[in-house]
Amino acid sequence: MRGLKGKRIVIAGGATGIGAATVERLVEEGASVVVGDINISGVTATAKRATENGGVAVPVEFDLSDEDSIQALIDRAVSELGGIDGLFNVGADVSDANLGRDLDLLDMDLGVWHRTLDVNLIGYALTARAAIPHILESGGGAVINTSSGAGWSGAKVRPAYSASKAGVNALTRHIATRWGKEGIRCNGLAPGLVMGETQIRQANREMQAQALDAALSPRLGRTEDLAGIAAFLLSDDGEWINGQVWSICGGMHLRG
Ligand SMILES: NC(=O)c1ccc[n+]([C@@H]2O[C@H](COP(=O)([O-])OP(=O)(O)OC[C@H]3O[C@@H](n4cnc5c(N)ncnc54)[C@H](O)[C@@H]3O)[C@@H](O)[C@H]2O)c1
Repeated sequence: MRGLKGKRIVIAGGATGIGAATVERLVEEGASVVVGDINISGVTATAKRATENGGVAVPVEFDLSDEDSIQALIDRAVSELGGIDGLFNVGADVSDANLGRDLDLLDMDLGVWHRTLDVNLIGYALTARAAIPHILESGGGAVINTSSGAGWSGAKVRPAYSASKAGVNALTRHIATRWGKEGIRCNGLAPGLVMGETQIRQANREMQAQALDAALSPRLGRTEDLAGIAAFLLSDDGEWINGQVWSICGGMHLRG
């Protein structure tokens, strides 16, 4: 991949799943990474695994729902790496305690709605707000926000999660529109069913079978599939892509 070597990237949410796989891929490509997560033991293990053969991945404990800790993550990235060229927002509160209680509107739990929007949407806005001045200082770069097919399709449950992801799509287009001319590109990734640690735990056989049936590809997603696309969007090869939300789903979210 052209133009990833030496790039300084912040990953917001990399203890497990897609974020963790992306840390490994970026370090393999020669980028330097600061990776934050609320799960410090998980993100420390990610950084250790990614740098087994050398390279830079600095784990930092942070919380997407806490403005001060987001600022501290970005400050740490600037002091460790000397600047920032890219940001990958990928963390989300998909815990059973939160997403598992995101039921239909008549069963609305206000705490779940606030938590979901705080972490999944406002957290992304705050990381981007803190990182953008540094990316501008570097002469431009890339922001990626992780969305979901839930951001545009309807579902009988998980309205807070869906609303947070629809908001992520709007945030993506705002950043792309506002700072595109200054060299910042911002894109969204909407994964299909990707079998990282969380989905292996949460997606039962029936959900997996349904997702496989809906996909055009003969298999479900792997975290590496998303890591490869994120690396591409953060590289110089992705320089002319801006304001898009890509479905990376084996053709599951087919639309015109
Ligand atoms: N895997 C899928 O099938 C799928 C499908 C659609 C969208 N997504 C999206 O992809 C992204 C990654 O999901 P994943 O499947 O890799 O799940 P994951 O659970 O493996 O990763 C989520 C990460 O976010 C971290 N996190 C949770 N709350 C946080 C907080 N408050 N502050 C900081 N970090 C926090 C977790 O510790 C974890 O490391 C999420 O945004 C998710 O909504 C995933």
